[in-house]
Amino acid sequence: MFSSETISIEEEIRSYCAEKDIPLAELRWQPIPFNGEWGTSTSFFQTAAHEAKAAKGTGKKVIVPMRAQEIAENIKELIGLPKGISRVEAVKGYLNLYFVTEDFAERVITAILQEKSDFGRGKSKGERVMVEYAQPNTHHSFHIGHYRNAILGESLSRLVEFAGFETIRAAYPGDIGLGVITVLWIYEKFYKGQEPDGVHERGQWLLNLYVEATNMLTEKENETDDERILREKYDAERREMYLKWDAGDEYIRDLWLETREWSLDELKDILLQIGIQIDTWFFESVEDEPSKAVVQELLDLDIATDERDEGGAVLVKIDEKLGLKKEKYRTNVLLRNDGTTLYLTKDLSLAKKKFNEFGVDRSIYVVDVRQSLHFMQAFAILGLWGFEQAEKCYHLGYGFVSLPGGAMSARKGRVVIFKDVADEAIRRFTETSKEKNPDLSEEVRAGVAKAVGLGSLAYAMLAVDNSRDTIFDVEKALSFEGRTGPYIQNAHVRAASILKKFEGLKVESLESATFNFELTSHEIELIELLSRFPAVVEQAAKEYRPMIMATYAYDLASAFHSFYHAVPVLKSETDAIRDARLQLVTAAKQTLANALKLLAITAPEVM
Ligand code: ARG
Repeated sequence: MFSSETISIEEEIRSYCAEKDIPLAELRWQPIPFNGEWGTSTSFFQTAAHEAKAAKGTGKKVIVPMRAQEIAENIKELIGLPKGISRVEAVKGYLNLYFVTEDFAERVITAILQEKSDFGRGKSKGERVMVEYAQPNTHHSFHIGHYRNAILGESLSRLVEFAGFETIRAAYPGDIGLGVITVLWIYEKFYKGQEPDGVHERGQWLLNLYVEATNMLTEKENETDDERILREKYDAERREMYLKWDAGDEYIRDLWLETREWSLDELKDILLQIGIQIDTWFFESVEDEPSKAVVQELLDLDIATDERDEGGAVLVKIDEKLGLKKEKYRTNVLLRNDGTTLYLTKDLSLAKKKFNEFGVDRSIYVVDVRQSLHFMQAFAILGLWGFEQAEKCYHLGYGFVSLPGGAMSARKGRVVIFKDVADEAIRRFTETSKEKNPDLSEEVRAGVAKAVGLGSLAYAMLAVDNSRDTIFDVEKALSFEGRTGPYIQNAHVRAASILKKFEGLKVESLESATFNFELTSHEIELIELLSRFPAVVEQAAKEYRPMIMATYAYDLASAFHSFYHAVPVLKSETDAIRDARLQLVTAAKQTLANALKLLAITAPEVM
């Protein structure tokens, strides 16, 4: 972020190298790990390596580490002590620049006060990214696992967008399959014409129907003959319904579309509540036809093999086509013998659509880790097919979520409904808030309870490595201590409360800060963390890991809480110090808000 010094130093380095005919490699600056002093560093190894390469065969001998050190020393000599730099070192081929502490502090804080909600935003990357998430199957309910998916996808979208990628948010619900037909079957047979009131009630009712139907259609232990006959009859009806759907039967299609809408209404309502706005909706049912055309194309290109005449399927022998000796991607079916498509087939046409119709350069899929092999196969086939972007496809997997009580299974009805968990978190926080802060108006309390209840959930999901399973414990997540959403939100609230006391001083109108007093270690640590925010955005976006931002937000909150306890603001030694600290508090509050926003968490003013 501190380009002003490095830019002018870079210019000096460039003209020096040009003059001496040194083949300068790209200059990259890395922050020096903080140890009481702030600094940045660049290496001349690459440049020396270029020289060594160029010298080959000329009789001149270049020893890379020695030459790198020599260049670093010469440049150190050349630049002297530029403004804002307290000292310069040439060590082991590196040029280290250390900043004057007070200048550095001033610059960090001033940048934040000026850039506000844009502080940390990356330069445009000139690339378009599509993030696909929030794709639960319809005729089902939104459970806690879907929530982990949604919040992970949303945080990732916010991160890549903020880092400078043009971002498209996409969803791809599975809206057809035997599960969906099962719901239509029971509805038609036993519940026709019924429709519960309320978006959630209606959505969840479909799940109940699914569970009930699955019970009826599953073989029981000690089944009597009559029971078996009935079950088989039901199953035949269900299959017939599926065939009708396939044939485009108007009545079945209408029934399907109407009930699908119930699910989507519920899904959109939940997404709205958690701050998610999807730009583009894809559906499995829509991909069915185009995916058949893809199979034809792959057959024409000799990537797929048609073994249907021998009673087999249309398949891709991925390992063989890639010339791999060891089994990695295996062989995959694209069309069954009866000509129907599979999940994988549809993903091929969907990927093509993403690249060709939406012009994406990168395509990220936020999907359960259990589908890892599926995505490896899909991306490998895209590569064989000749899509350059296949390399830019990325599966962000995530693990299972359970409650302290145990695992869940949709088929058995042991599903943890997201809304139940969210309502419970909000209810519990409302109670705590009534005790701790009885003076809040009910309206404000309701807003805060929603922010903190949902924030606790979001943070609990984002703070664990995405690939690991996790247990969601409401009690822990709502705690004000430890790695929780409320702990971070509370740092923001504390900053807000300090500033409120100083409203008359109009901190925000102070354009620049002056830190020419001896900083406490708490201030230094806080400033250090603030200065790192832009790099954290960049890293989290580059690695597609919201957890990096979650960890940072906790560290920042923790540094702020320590500062809050140890350093007086109101009772600072002088007015100038007080003003500087007020600006530091303003900057910390802003950065906490920016970090929370990237985690899809609201930053409340009171709680
Ligand atoms: N609907 C699928 C499921 O619930 C997830 C879709 C994942 N996305 C994809 N492009 N295959 O398992």
